[in-house]
Amino acid sequence: MVSNAPTGYRDAALSEWEPGSQVDVDEAVEFLRAVYGEVPTLGRVEPRLTTVRDQIAALGTYWHTPQELVHGARLAWRNASRCIGRLYWRSLLVLDRRSSRTHQEIFEDLVAHLLKATGEGEHRGRLRPIISVFRQAVAGRPVTRLRNDQLIRYAGYDDDAGDAQNRELTRAAMALGWQGKGSPFDLLPLILQTGDEEPTCFELPETAVLEVPLTHPEFVWFAELGLRWHAVPAISNMRLSIGGIDYPLAPFSGWYMGTEIGARNLADEHRYNMIPAIARCMGLDMSSEATLWRDRALVELNRAVLHSFARAGVRMSDHHTESRRFMSHVERERAAGRPVPADWTWIVPPMSASLTPVFHRYYAEADLRPNFYAM
Ligand code: ARG
Repeated sequence: MVSNAPTGYRDAALSEWEPGSQVDVDEAVEFLRAVYGEVPTLGRVEPRLTTVRDQIAALGTYWHTPQELVHGARLAWRNASRCIGRLYWRSLLVLDRRSSRTHQEIFEDLVAHLLKATGEGEHRGRLRPIISVFRQAVAGRPVTRLRNDQLIRYAGYDDDAGDAQNRELTRAAMALGWQGKGSPFDLLPLILQTGDEEPTCFELPETAVLEVPLTHPEFVWFAELGLRWHAVPAISNMRLSIGGIDYPLAPFSGWYMGTEIGARNLADEHRYNMIPAIARCMGLDMSSEATLWRDRALVELNRAVLHSFARAGVRMSDHHTESRRFMSHVERERAAGRPVPADWTWIVPPMSASLTPVFHRYYAEADLRPNFYAM
């Protein structure tokens, strides 16, 4: 998912979501029919429907087979109307972590997720889309979830250092005994919590977090700004909903589109707010808005992001390429007879919008399942 819309949807605090007492049979049936229809190697759906109906009648829930889980997660991505990167939905690697129980086990799985998502050994930087799916929610059983909205987050301090968006999460970590260095890019620990129990805090090992220091293709001074960003965006606070089953912990990651970092994370006033500093270093005339100094600084910041990731061998795409890919996706889905629900306000890139093809049209909005939901 690529955030172009205003922030505020990410809340570091735990919300009130609780699993329902009974899985919706119709939703289960509809999902299974869709999956068995799309994946012929799974065989006939009828016997499976009988089993699932019996299980729901007896136990109030059912369990996905590994193949159902894999395809279900891919469909959730395909249906994610805010994501511009959906062309590759079939390539999603699904790590089935449903048997992990303790916070320690879950933490180790999350580290494994980051390593795999980053690419290991000679493949480091060759990011690939991955989701780790943990235990499904069952009525009456406390839910385990992460307080972190992403696996990798930089601390934000009250004196303004760091990522102001993460102040609440930073406070929560400090309340658990974590201490940051107070630098602009301190990695926050993961905070796992089950029900109302005491949360546990885990420091990420350095090897699990690939970061890219930012330089500019021409401006030598740019490196001295000391900017950097992490390679892997990994959303960790959304509930995955498949066939009536909820997976409250199902972090997923892909690769960045440059503007997420260059036109939002480092540019937004309530984030790193770097535009004025960059404009000053560029020696731009900031005496009037009409000089478009903000826009000019924004372009150079985004060039630096794309340049630095490319130089570091870390996969990233630009908004022109990603927009074209999205149009291919729309076309492919149309050919397959499927709708592509999309949210214009999220799909359209936050800079040079009208230079990309995704700007010049409207999209159907629909809440198709499987999907990801804010808790
Ligand atoms: N916009 C978010 C960020 O800047 C990441 C959202 C997911 N993005 C992605 N390319 N998969 O951290």
